[in-house]
Amino acid sequence: MTFRDAWQRALYGPGGFYRRERPAAHFRTSVHASALFGQAIARLAGQLGLPTVVDIGAGSGELGKVLRDEGLSVLDIELDDDLPAQLSGLVIANEWLDNVPCEVVEWDEDGVPRYLLADLTPGPVVHGNDLLWLEQWWPGGPGDRAEVGRARDEAWQDVIRRLTDGAVAIAIDYGHVRSGRPPYGTLTGFRDGRECSPDPDGSCDITAHVALDSLGGTILSQRDALRALGISASRPPLALAHTEPLRYLSELSSAGEAAELLDPSGLGGFGWVWTAADAATVRRASRALCA
Ligand SMILES: C[S@@+](CC[C@H](N)C(=O)[O-])C[C@H]1O[C@@H](n2cnc3c(N)ncnc32)[C@H](O)[C@@H]1O
Repeated sequence: MTFRDAWQRALYGPGGFYRRERPAAHFRTSVHASALFGQAIARLAGQLGLPTVVDIGAGSGELGKVLRDEGLSVLDIELDDDLPAQLSGLVIANEWLDNVPCEVVEWDEDGVPRYLLADLTPGPVVHGNDLLWLEQWWPGGPGDRAEVGRARDEAWQDVIRRLTDGAVAIAIDYGHVRSGRPPYGTLTGFRDGRECSPDPDGSCDITAHVALDSLGGTILSQRDALRALGISASRPPLALAHTEPLRYLSELSSAGEAAELLDPSGLGGFGWVWTAADAATVRRASRALCA
């Protein structure tokens, strides 16, 4: 059994982590950090003229709640839900792909990449499409470790090929691109809000950053995307504290939440990878996301 098989079973098998647990109990995503995130997504849907949002890997549906409050219609997709044959509207996958199990490999002392097994010891030599993927996207040498993004690419392509004219899909995740892969990979676990060893026993979330460039699509940082969509961490003027203290406090709290979403070393450093189904929609999405 490779680590990927063990990862799959630990998260999604019978009694697996995501069969029992609520994501918010273990880690904090943009959706948990602030309703401002969902409001920005709603603004984007409005600018694209899309009344429906499909939320893939919706967790406990926190994003959908904000979007419905903003008047949008929302389809939450979670484990065991089938993706509709056609996806129209704005498709969002926030921190889904990092949880799509993938092969983890390590180059041996001769520079040969080997699959890691469930106990993270080296096993068979990497071959076939996994090897081609590594050569194209994540070359390494003796002692390096990598996560083969092919399973994420395939999961995302399965979404993209369903888009109908006018639709836009955005994968939002922490990740890296070829010019800056982490030499020892990023495989890790989360339990009760703390990072932990990625034990594939169902007791913790297991995650690895996403190779954003191999997904295909246009990449920008969450910081740039949210700023283009009108999120600002500017503090309200102090004078407001004297004239309208309640409004001042509310705007101050909003600015704090915005700062967390925009923080370049935190959520703001996430990548947004977007794809639109047709040329006219590409132009609309470019205008909306590139301020
Ligand atoms: C890290 S959580 C993110 C939840 C939410 N999007 C958020 O931002 O808080 C990843 C979610 O993806 C879901 N998931 C994993 N594989 C999936 C699949 N094939 N189809 C739909 N949901 C999936 C998991 O059950 C989990 O709820």
